[in-house]
Amino acid sequence: MRASIIVVIGLVCLLVPAAALDNGLALTPTMGWLHWERFMCNTDCDADPQNCIREELFMQMADVMVKEGWKDAGYEFVCIDDCWPSQQRDAQGRLQADPKRFPSGIKKLADYVHSKGLKLGIYADVGTKTCAGYPGSLGYYDIDAKTFADWGVDLLKFDGCFMPDWHQLGEGYINMSSALNQTGRSIVYSCEWPLYEWQHQQPDYEAIRKTCNHWRNYGDVYDQWTSVKSILDWTAEKQKIVVPVAGPGGWNDPDMLIIGNFGLSRDQQQTQMALWAIMAAPLLMSNDLRDICPKAKELLQNKQIIAINQDPLGKQGYRILKADSFELWERPLSGNRLAVAVMNRQEIGGPRRFTISVAIMPSWKLCNPKCNVTQIMPTYKEMGVQNLLSEVVVQVNPTGTTLLTVNPL
Ligand code: GLA
Repeated sequence: MRASIIVVIGLVCLLVPAAALDNGLALTPTMGWLHWERFMCNTDCDADPQNCIREELFMQMADVMVKEGWKDAGYEFVCIDDCWPSQQRDAQGRLQADPKRFPSGIKKLADYVHSKGLKLGIYADVGTKTCAGYPGSLGYYDIDAKTFADWGVDLLKFDGCFMPDWHQLGEGYINMSSALNQTGRSIVYSCEWPLYEWQHQQPDYEAIRKTCNHWRNYGDVYDQWTSVKSILDWTAEKQKIVVPVAGPGGWNDPDMLIIGNFGLSRDQQQTQMALWAIMAAPLLMSNDLRDICPKAKELLQNKQIIAINQDPLGKQGYRILKADSFELWERPLSGNRLAVAVMNRQEIGGPRRFTISVAIMPSWKLCNPKCNVTQIMPTYKEMGVQNLLSEVVVQVNPTGTTLLTVNPL
């Protein structure tokens, strides 16, 4: 009897992810827009008024998000990254926005964003300075959390630069988490704790999950295929450590979607979208929604891919095979369904064929006695009823991905 109780408890521990941050937020991965990758620390509003970090940029993004179907597709957060504050705190020690670039202040901006039915995100840093050299929050966690709550902020991205002693990273992130909690306002807490901790030791992901709603593990995304590949490689190599901690309320964050910019081909953009869905990643676009090509827009607003990303079961997918320059990834979905991504990593030649079967993919067992297979991307295609013995052949372009769903019948 005792032994069986222990076995049952053991099984439950394996099946249930560690306790999440108990703020009721991010039950599915956060969706929105974040300024950093596309607009960086452009503060030169005289020379480049269209693209500098100032209140108009965020108001215009909010307008477009409502007008152009982004909000309806699920993208809800308009997020400010680094370079928004003034170099000086005010007389009460509070952060203040740069008065030239944010003359109306963040509260007004939050009101504007809320009036559109959207939410506002802001950025700060656990150390003495932000990565771009603006005032950090060390010594000011309570004041800053209260200021953000007073302004009506809905998400905080908390960076990890300039922490005088890295041993105190955890304490800093945990203290800010409780400071946010104590404000009584619902604020999604986006951390970079593990990214900075990995430079010294393996992070304690149980603690991170209890503290943050999502967390960056790996370096910044750039507008290039090499960068996307390195993020995928890192995630697959570390999947035993990072995949089990993801779940409703807490997600691994592989960084922004750069779809709609300059560096990725069409196939590479499809790969980023498909794999970010498989990885249950926050979908934070960093692009110029005021001027985005229709194909990129269609991809970013693809309902079926977003549904995979937002699946309520909240299990992160993982790589199950890497062979012959192909990668096969799967993600368990609610209703005993499955998402499957086949990526062609061969960067020469044309489209290549890949055969999916139970022999290479044990979870294909859900096709016993029958399942329904649908290709979601690159084009939508019903692939018919299949069974345990089926061999499903897909075509995959170089650096591209073919994405399927498998539904038991
Ligand atoms: C770090 C973060 C980026 C961005 C910049 C801003 O590099 O990882 O995502 O926030 O700082 O300076």
